Amino acid sequence: MISHSAKIVQQRIGALAKITEEPGRITRTFASPAMRRANELVGAWMRAAGLEVRVDAAFNLLGRWNSTQRGAKTFLLGSHLDTVRDAGKYDGPLGVLTAISAVELLRERGVKLPFNVEVVGFSDEEGVRYQTTYLGSRALAGTLTAADLARIEEKQIVTARRNKNEFFGYAEVHIEQGPVLEKKKIPVGVVTAIAGQSRLRVEFLGVAGHAGTVPMTLRHDALAGAAEFILAVEKCGVLATVGKIEVANGASNVIPGNVSLTLDVRDQNDSRRLAAVKALQIKAQNIAQRRGLRLNWTLVQQTSAVPCDKTLTQIFSQCVAQRGLEVLKLPSGAGHDAVALSAICPVAMLFVRCKGGISHNPAESVKTSDVRVAVEVLADFILRLAKHP
Ligand code: GLV
Ligand code: MN
Ligand code: MN
Repeated sequence: MISHSAKIVQQRIGALAKITEEPGRITRTFASPAMRRANELVGAWMRAAGLEVRVDAAFNLLGRWNSTQRGAKTFLLGSHLDTVRDAGKYDGPLGVLTAISAVELLRERGVKLPFNVEVVGFSDEEGVRYQTTYLGSRALAGTLTAADLARIEEKQIVTARRNKNEFFGYAEVHIEQGPVLEKKKIPVGVVTAIAGQSRLRVEFLGVAGHAGTVPMTLRHDALAGAAEFILAVEKCGVLATVGKIEVANGASNVIPGNVSLTLDVRDQNDSRRLAAVKALQIKAQNIAQRRGLRLNWTLVQQTSAVPCDKTLTQIFSQCVAQRGLEVLKLPSGAGHDAVALSAICPVAMLFVRCKGGISHNPAESVKTSDVRVAVEVLADFILRLAKHP
């Protein structure tokens, strides 16, 4: 039965991977037509599992299993259905599809729960469209800021806000996106905390000019300044990435006058991350000053490190131990919707081994036998939660 569920999860992940806004590769960004189609397809699987399905104003897909107990609170399960550009097929969908299968297994067994379960496919964990992450889960949690709303076109997403008193927890299954589980030969791991992150936009403004006439010593080349900054980022001592760079009006024969780049800084320790961001800002100012450039330094989004809830994490650990598996606890360097949900309820996460620790890459791969463990553990988790005082 469970091995059948794992095969279905794999088949569904394959079918979902075909829904994309860029033919030939997987790309599903916030509120795109591809996301609407993904919500339709996954919504049909939720319906087949007996869930009541709707899409909220933030494009989150929600499938609800109502408890027979009146006034019962709700436990959320899920992950995200948006992707990076040219993504792998597991980052996000694995958590949504294992949740649907775990719920389906329990319903088939005639289980009655003292709480409602909502399975969620969140609409924006990656933040590709606006550089800010968690638009869907923050809309649900009611934590969008005025700055978010100023940036985005889809203002109506604020109305997706739910009453936090409805919920008593959130659990998310996700690929590890790192090599630890593979190295230790363990299919799943229990997450202790999720690293904080800072996302910034950095602009170097120089003077555009003729590539053939302005002497090298008289240039104010914004791209050369940005290049020097990127090498400083590489040496800053925490996890830091320039993932996107744009040269305005770039051409072979034009000295770059305007360059903007994204900066993403992560650490488990918030003060170390903030100190690294400050040091990089000073570095950028020095580079700009020395090269006669202007600098625009904009903080786009910042989230603190989030500890996973002790009780929910312990329940996950018990479910893993019950399968005779070593309980490996590990932190997450990647961000997850659990960060946004932690504003309104306790959160926990289960990581699943992925090949080579590779993610944000079409080569993402997860074994069906590991998917099976994840579905089993998640179904056990819900049952244990129901017995928990
Ligand atoms: C999400 O994948 C992130 O950026 O951590
Ligand atoms: Mn993810
Ligand atoms: Mn991701």
